[in-house]
Amino acid sequence: MTLTQLRKLKREGEKITCLTAYDASFAHLLEQANIDILLVGDSLGMVIQGHDSTLPVTVDDMIYHCQQVHRGCQQALLMVDMPFMSYATPNLALKSAARLMGEGYAQVVKLEGGGWLIETVQVLTERGIPVCAHLGLTPQSIHQIGGYRVQGKTERGVERIRDDAVALQQAGASLLLLECVPGQLAEEITALLDIPVIGIGAGVKCDAQILVLYDMLGITPGKRPSFSKDFLQETGSILAAIEAFVKAVKEGTFPGQEHTFE
Ligand code: KIV
Repeated sequence: MTLTQLRKLKREGEKITCLTAYDASFAHLLEQANIDILLVGDSLGMVIQGHDSTLPVTVDDMIYHCQQVHRGCQQALLMVDMPFMSYATPNLALKSAARLMGEGYAQVVKLEGGGWLIETVQVLTERGIPVCAHLGLTPQSIHQIGGYRVQGKTERGVERIRDDAVALQQAGASLLLLECVPGQLAEEITALLDIPVIGIGAGVKCDAQILVLYDMLGITPGKRPSFSKDFLQETGSILAAIEAFVKAVKEGTFPGQEHTFE
């Protein structure tokens, strides 16, 4: 899978599937189910390492897991999260992204944030590093935001997310991920942008859907986020659960209204 193919899928209205992956065995299974994008998410800080946020995750951690996923990844596009503070300046971003691609074999790097990242996205993309921008709920800013809650609920919030999305595309971003925003706003941004928009807790109208693998298998400790679904419960095997997710996304039956914010 390439970024060119993903843009074609968007133009043709075919839904794109993504899940997080943290090791080679799961990557093999995800490949068997024909997942389009594998994200080595910094959610690994919570679901693998057991921290209560993604903040302690390092570039070395991300490289370690990205190398494992790469060994199990044949077809899917391999995307990696840039961890907290690894892209605080454009120069630092360049160094961290070069390692994630050169040592971790990632094909796209994902970074969380809006307008302040414009220069960074330009610097990376001008040097051949494809970027996925991440807006809405940005877990690396959890202490600033004050909790894991829906973003873009006020008129000002809606405007900021919409303007940032357009500016990040103009700066060179190849993909946009929207996390926990009202379905209506995600639909509007998806129609506005040429680049594929990946949603998590952002309604069914996004070009692509992603979930944290351990959430959709029901093995994340604690309460499952309301926008997620336990696909293992109704299927009985991990491969069947992943295949059910792919089918539901492709057919536009996931996420449903019950997984969507207003
Ligand atoms: O780290 C992660 O798993 C993510 C998803 C929530 C999209 O960024």
